[in-house]
Amino acid sequence: MYSIEVNSLSKSYGNFIAVDGIDLKVESGKIFGFLGPNGAGKTTTIKLLTTLIPPSSGKMNILGIDGVKSPLEVRKRIGVVLQQPSYEPTLSVEKSLEKYGMMWNVDAKTRKVRVEELLVAFDLADIRKKKNDDLSIGQRRRVQVSREFMHDMDLLFLDEPTVGLDPSARRGLLDYIKSRVRDGLTVFFTTHILEEAEYLCDKIAIINRGKIIAVDTPEVLKSKFGRKKTIKIHLDKRQDISSLFGAIPGCIIEHDSDTVVTIHSDQSEKVLQNVLQILASNGISVEDLSVVPTSLEEIFLSVVKNSNESNNSSGK
Ligand SMILES: Nc1ncnc2c1ncn2[C@@H]1O[C@H](COP(=O)(O)OP(=O)(O)O)[C@@H](O)[C@H]1O
Ligand SMILES: [Mg+2]
Repeated sequence: MYSIEVNSLSKSYGNFIAVDGIDLKVESGKIFGFLGPNGAGKTTTIKLLTTLIPPSSGKMNILGIDGVKSPLEVRKRIGVVLQQPSYEPTLSVEKSLEKYGMMWNVDAKTRKVRVEELLVAFDLADIRKKKNDDLSIGQRRRVQVSREFMHDMDLLFLDEPTVGLDPSARRGLLDYIKSRVRDGLTVFFTTHILEEAEYLCDKIAIINRGKIIAVDTPEVLKSKFGRKKTIKIHLDKRQDISSLFGAIPGCIIEHDSDTVVTIHSDQSEKVLQNVLQILASNGISVEDLSVVPTSLEEIFLSVVKNSNESNNSSGK
């Protein structure tokens, strides 16, 4: 069963294509991660799927409802936390939650129970009487995310919900989302932080320049790209040696600073042999040399970079 099914969905602003013919299938009861750099089209996609803006073309089925024809039907059954801050400055934390529940016609008794539960779950109990205006950005974000859980829904959209949260609040939120998904909620979650998507999501789509360039489970994405290793060379004095390595096949060379050279490759043993040979035959002394698995962050960046390059070379 799918909670979201989307075919060739596009959104243009004039000549600019913000979302470019994406296909998506999101399984019910799972957490789907939507990952991409700034400007990739994540927020636009969320606005399309939540029917806040109409698509330029394409089809979308949300919870079995035609989202293009019946946007209001969709909205009754979903929750959405947008990227943009939204709060009433003079309202206290607890009143913000209470009022949100009223807006959704949640009965008084249920509201009371949920407010108490959410104040604890989002670590807001100590500041329950504080006005939104007097909160830090991270606290306000926690209020904005927590109030969405005041009402019943089948599908929740979260647009970069962890931005501005400290590590413990971030972890708390991710774990709370996990617990709600165990109870049957489906979550569509955007982030530009790969570790977060890996921790939380059953499936991850990577979007860049309005196009989806990879969709898979975190495990598969890792095994597909995770064979890559990174060789880091710290020189003991500044010198430009990248040209020496240019001839080694199958690697990408970066100059991080005057004395640090990074080499990415998925044939690290071979490349390492070559590197050591070149260093020795040129009499280059090295302070430190290490070989480490490429981090998820770097994998993500390289996938995005490759897709940019293939776009450019296709004359776009
Ligand atoms: N209303 C709009 N008018 C024109 N361009 C827009 C509008 N909304 C978004 N864009 C553009 O669409 C692209 C994708 O934006 P967005 O979906 O917000 O990216 P993300 O959320 O991944 O950072 C950006 O280049 C942005 O400038
Ligand atoms: Mg965004």
